[in-house]
Amino acid sequence: MLFKQLFENESSTYTYLISCQEKQEAILIDPVIETVNRDLKIVDSLGLQLKYAIDTHIHADHITSAAALREITGCKIAGPGRDNLRCRDINFSHNDELIIGNTLKLKAIYTPGHTDTHFSYMLKKNGEELLFSGDALLIDSCGRTDFQSGSAKQLYRTIKDIFYKMSDNTKVYPAHDYNNKSYSTIFDQKRDNMLINEEIEVGDFISKMDNLNLDNPKKIDISVPKNNNCGS
Ligand SMILES: [Fe+2]
Repeated sequence: MLFKQLFENESSTYTYLISCQEKQEAILIDPVIETVNRDLKIVDSLGLQLKYAIDTHIHADHITSAAALREITGCKIAGPGRDNLRCRDINFSHNDELIIGNTLKLKAIYTPGHTDTHFSYMLKKNGEELLFSGDALLIDSCGRTDFQSGSAKQLYRTIKDIFYKMSDNTKVYPAHDYNNKSYSTIFDQKRDNMLINEEIEVGDFISKMDNLNLDNPKKIDISVPKNNNCGS
């Protein structure tokens, strides 16, 4: 397996390139329009064929490059079925599996709360478990829940009942990090995440999330309609 974590500066987004080295077939998770040329260069230079561009959710802070990638490479676009996007080729249901090449399987997991249709993805390989948690679980933080039908109560259940029941060694790769951190583990998040560690009760979490008082993302009015059309 080849695995690369790529970063887009403006929105602090992580894009993940994963490929099966037997068949040289690759996927990109949460690709960003600003870095589409960089990503294509990397795919090309590694001799890979891009098969799928996959989003975790309808992003509010950046535009996905899924449509551009499909136009240039012929890859398929995949994402949460609950988004009901006609532009996607594959609409995941909970527990669907996507085969990458000969050797890799990506499992789609319904993880609502940041948005009501958000999905995360799990990749298991050689005893390692990699969780692509989108904006549901961030490193020492979590995604906001104050727009796009977000719900702090739902996010609490997602993190506690799905993520924190995964094995402690599961590596958490989020869609964003704003503090130069690359990944965490379920063990560390259960212990160290001050917004939602193992001890935090649902009422405390909801009141913290209700009082974040964040500004809307700068590009929300452009990003959401564009992403509802796969970024085109
Ligand atoms: Fe988001």
